[in-house]
Amino acid sequence: MAVEHPAGVLCSYDARERSFQAEMNMKKQIAEHLAPQIGSLDEEGILALLEYPPNPEMGDVSLPCFKLSKTLRKAPDAIARELKNNMPPHPLVQRVEAVSGYLNFYLDPAAFAGQLVSEILQKRDRYGSQDVGGGRTIVIDYSSPNIAKPFHIGHLRSTVIGHSLARIFTFMGYRCVRVNHLGDWGTQFGKLIAAYLRWGDRTKIEQDGIDELLRLYVKFHEEAEQNPELEDEGRAWFVKLEQGDAQANELWKWFIGISLNEFEKIYKFLGVTFDSYAGESFYNDKLDKVIDGLRAKNLLEQDEGALIVRLDEFNMPPVLILKKDGSSLYHTRDIAAAIYRKETYDFDKAIYVTDYAQNLHFQQWFKVIELMGFEWAKDLVHVPFGRVSLEGGVGLSTRKGNVVKLEDLLKQTIEKTREIIEAKNPSLANKDEVARQIGAGAVIFSDLSAGRIKDVVFSWEEALNFDGETGPYVQYTHARACSVLRKAGGGSVDGVRLEPAEIPVEWLLDAEAQQVLKQLYLFPEKVHQAMDKLEPSVVSRYLIDLAQSFNRFYHDCPILVEDAALRTARLALVECVRTTLARGLHLIGLEAPEQI
Ligand code: ARG
Repeated sequence: MAVEHPAGVLCSYDARERSFQAEMNMKKQIAEHLAPQIGSLDEEGILALLEYPPNPEMGDVSLPCFKLSKTLRKAPDAIARELKNNMPPHPLVQRVEAVSGYLNFYLDPAAFAGQLVSEILQKRDRYGSQDVGGGRTIVIDYSSPNIAKPFHIGHLRSTVIGHSLARIFTFMGYRCVRVNHLGDWGTQFGKLIAAYLRWGDRTKIEQDGIDELLRLYVKFHEEAEQNPELEDEGRAWFVKLEQGDAQANELWKWFIGISLNEFEKIYKFLGVTFDSYAGESFYNDKLDKVIDGLRAKNLLEQDEGALIVRLDEFNMPPVLILKKDGSSLYHTRDIAAAIYRKETYDFDKAIYVTDYAQNLHFQQWFKVIELMGFEWAKDLVHVPFGRVSLEGGVGLSTRKGNVVKLEDLLKQTIEKTREIIEAKNPSLANKDEVARQIGAGAVIFSDLSAGRIKDVVFSWEEALNFDGETGPYVQYTHARACSVLRKAGGGSVDGVRLEPAEIPVEWLLDAEAQQVLKQLYLFPEKVHQAMDKLEPSVVSRYLIDLAQSFNRFYHDCPILVEDAALRTARLALVECVRTTLARGLHLIGLEAPEQI
């Protein structure tokens, strides 16, 4: 059982996250170059105006001159023309054109390729990493399933999004504390204890785990419909549990152990880890402080014996803090947890990843934190996501126990992946491990491929399609790049000698190679955007674009050719793609096997 004190188990902050070298940033270089020409705007201001034109005929970077028109008191077209005529040469820029108020920059393809390839080959898996966080802390609360209940595909989405956000923030120089706020407290445990003592069978629970606990829970509700006294019995057991009764505690801990055992299997399958498993019960001895704080600010009100905080002023229903019988609630424990996390980790931001059905819950208690006078209320962020359903409309409700268990879904995914591997590459070594990596990739990617607020319908066909816009497609493309490098490198992926400064980039001027380079160039920006928008799908969609442009290049441009210079240039590009795909996959929580 792992309900440990979270303070001691922080993830280690990798100092390399912060190292960076010269970067190939075309907008920045152009802004620097333009600044002396435009007196009224500094570099930052120009940078904010620069855009990527929608089609390459209009250049690679463009400055719209419309906003400048006011301060310079000239027509945008005249500004663009003047700037063009006075523009001193820049090594990265081949030519400049003024068209209808836009100043369009056309990059020198060789200079562009040279700078970018050498940057990526130098930085390798650090390419795209930026020190935005400066080592500041972000607490991410994700996954957070409920004890004695199945881990369903709604929790999967929280797990996958939270895990990816933690990796993205770490890559951007933050220290992340990953918290699994287990639902391990509440009246349902009293009911479960009552049900177990009436109808439970220890060996059956040990064998069937959560399934059997759920069966007992469902039976309790069925029976209680006929026999309402059962509800009192359940409540009484919860009171005992709260008062530290030995038998109640022993059973409760046992249920937690059984559940965690099953959750761990899923985390292991997905490759997900946490720094803390401090669940709701962890805050039991920290609730008085919340009550005192609320009282001190005169926020508490009696309501039929219960204690509430009214939020009428803010157009929200009241928050129930303590029930009539003195027991605390989900809200209360979230407030206590936030205070504890601020004191323990001194976070810069605390992020909560849940289904949007909990929007109101978070709005309410964020408001309570603000009313308590904590200035850091502004640093609490709810990251909501859409609902997940399965193709064919199978419900996910726990009510009557007709849930689709995640474990079944994952098992089926591995089986299907295994079949595909068996058909495509029967001689592959460690098939089981690769099937897990690809199966997990299929599930994770399908959850991250659409914007997070969208409702998702999970489809086997789609998720496992090696040619569609899927995780396996990107993983397969990565393995293809590895295979080329292996062939060239005498059997080892990094056997080819590629000196960053000595790549004959003049061999990368064809349209296919340039297209790949343009995609590679976007990686740092996309990661930054994914972080700003708390949206891993920005990275997953990017990976599809990069994989597609690489596959076009692979198809049209032979790589392992006789000509040594051409071969080296193309191999360098393959290596840049390989490293960027691998890093991108890592950022969204996928593994990148070298052979599939
Ligand atoms: N256990 C909750 C559920 O399954 C999610 C908890 C989310 N985290 C939090 N701090 N409220 O719905």
